[in-house]
Amino acid sequence: MDSPDIAILGTGAHAPAKILTNHELARTVETTDEWIVTRTGIRERRIAGKNETTSLMAAAAGRAALADAGIEAAQVDLIIVATLTPDVPMPATACLVQHLLGVPARAACFDLNAACSGFLYALDTAWALLGSGRYRHALVIGAEKLSTIVDWTDRSTCVLFGDGAGAVVLGPARGTAKILGMRLYAEGAHAGLLGVPRGPRSYIQMKGREIFKIAVREMEDAAREILEQHGLAATSIACVVPHQANLRIIESLAQYLGLPLERFVVNLDRYGNTSAASIPLALDEARRAGRVRPGDTTLFVAFGAGLTYGSALVRW
Ligand code: UT7
Repeated sequence: MDSPDIAILGTGAHAPAKILTNHELARTVETTDEWIVTRTGIRERRIAGKNETTSLMAAAAGRAALADAGIEAAQVDLIIVATLTPDVPMPATACLVQHLLGVPARAACFDLNAACSGFLYALDTAWALLGSGRYRHALVIGAEKLSTIVDWTDRSTCVLFGDGAGAVVLGPARGTAKILGMRLYAEGAHAGLLGVPRGPRSYIQMKGREIFKIAVREMEDAAREILEQHGLAATSIACVVPHQANLRIIESLAQYLGLPLERFVVNLDRYGNTSAASIPLALDEARRAGRVRPGDTTLFVAFGAGLTYGSALVRW
């Protein structure tokens, strides 16, 4: 069911200061800058400091989004943090963020894990809750400290991921930035392709090639279905904010949708794959760079472990 009166009122992001370049990585694992750039488009990623927790990054992004929206912490009554790297299994990162931001006790706060699609899952959840009329202002955050679950001796995965956070404030529409629609999906049959197994070596493990092919198909399906639902041609989309996993995946998606690559926001060259943080981080950058203009329709599209995937349409 559509909730047409809910809008993105502001965006914010936080990226750790420490940069880890491909050249630096090539000193510790058997890889090269050339291999990483050619196969993924990634040139560097951010790495959080020892005490720079997921909740601190999430709060920094959330604070920036509130400032951008002109909304006080006291007005927030819902916080959802999408993350697969919470500070601790409990309490929820969202409660830690609530305390850090001074959001009042009457707010509902919880975490959500849909891996790299987590931000879209959190956005849809918040949209539905706000649409119910029981909540008014939501902070929806994607935040990850993936450096803690990366096996830094495994060249097939360690070159891909990075840390960071991005956030949006959702609230009653002021005439712009309305969420037009969202679609979420999951294919649990592919759960074994990407994950963090329990055990002494509890690191990200994945079958990259298989995921690549499925990811392109899933993102194309998610994009096409939502466009169809809203009677829009792909060419009417001014700007696509895709999950930032691999430039070749984004290029394939652009080709299948018949859109020039210039319409896609790409910042994975500087951040790598930040999982649930990737779309809000890229969105905030795109807005600040003036790439999202009033009246534009933007498409968000993601895939991740699960395998989960989804899409969203926003009219600015
Ligand atoms: O958010 C979801 C997260 N997951 C993904 O996004 C994964 C999607 N998949 C991918 O992005 C790509 O499959 C990768 C970037 C992971 C890998 O690219 P690929 O073109 O599928 O390479 P590959 O796995 O088929 O490996 C090709 C070769 C192998 O060597 P051999 O067997 O051909 O001799 C690998 O051992 O490249 C080797 N290789 C590397 N070489 C240098 C794998 N990783 C590296 C590396 N540096 N970092």
